[in-house]
Amino acid sequence: MTASAEPSPGRGLFITFEGGDGTGKTTQASLLETWLTDAGRTVVRTREPGGTEVGLLVRDIVLHHRGEVSPRAEALLYAADRAHHVETVVRPALARGEVVIQDRYLDSSVAYQGAGRVLGRDEVRQLSLWATEGLLPDLTVLLDLDPAAARARLDADDKPFDRLEAEKESFHSHVREEFLALAAAEPDRFLVLDAAQHPAELAAAVRDRVATLLA
Ligand code: TYD
Repeated sequence: MTASAEPSPGRGLFITFEGGDGTGKTTQASLLETWLTDAGRTVVRTREPGGTEVGLLVRDIVLHHRGEVSPRAEALLYAADRAHHVETVVRPALARGEVVIQDRYLDSSVAYQGAGRVLGRDEVRQLSLWATEGLLPDLTVLLDLDPAAARARLDADDKPFDRLEAEKESFHSHVREEFLALAAAEPDRFLVLDAAQHPAELAAAVRDRVATLLA
């Protein structure tokens, strides 16, 4: 199975936020959404897993199922969520010329299912490219943070951990390393930020990069 990659079709802009759990992706996605909306752009704010009704069912399995989920099944579930989401939400929005701001996309699959577990990163990436017919983001913001600092933030949140958040620290260190390797391999697509910075500083850095894409 091979699939080629392409940037977003139509006049829209596809921006994804990636990073470990507790790195502030949702906060930054919200701040960018507000800035773009205030500037008069139509924004579709979405996420994976769970950006559609079908996706919510998949999200429930991958995050909350109590028994074992085999690694291949897990990778396929995320890919199934992604396939449906891209076809029914992301591509239509891009074709309408809108900005799609998304929490997590295929880089999460490569980092978590590819590097963190037993599957190869290339096969996981190919699976996602097949699922999405090759759709890659125009910009991926990677919020990089030491897993111990991220864990402290999650602890402070006081929410119960999901299946992946509950993994050992070594798993999260692998995931972090994999995200950084992905960013190094595609420097034009990625903006890597130190997520220990103040949220306002991070937001300014994101805006600067997005502004260049909109110019
Ligand atoms: P997320 O929605 O960021 O969690 P939360 O709602 O707790 O902030 O992501 C859910 C989890 O799913 C997260 O631990 C990472 C994992 N994940 C994968 O393992 N593979 C994937 O392809 C995606 C999109 C997420």
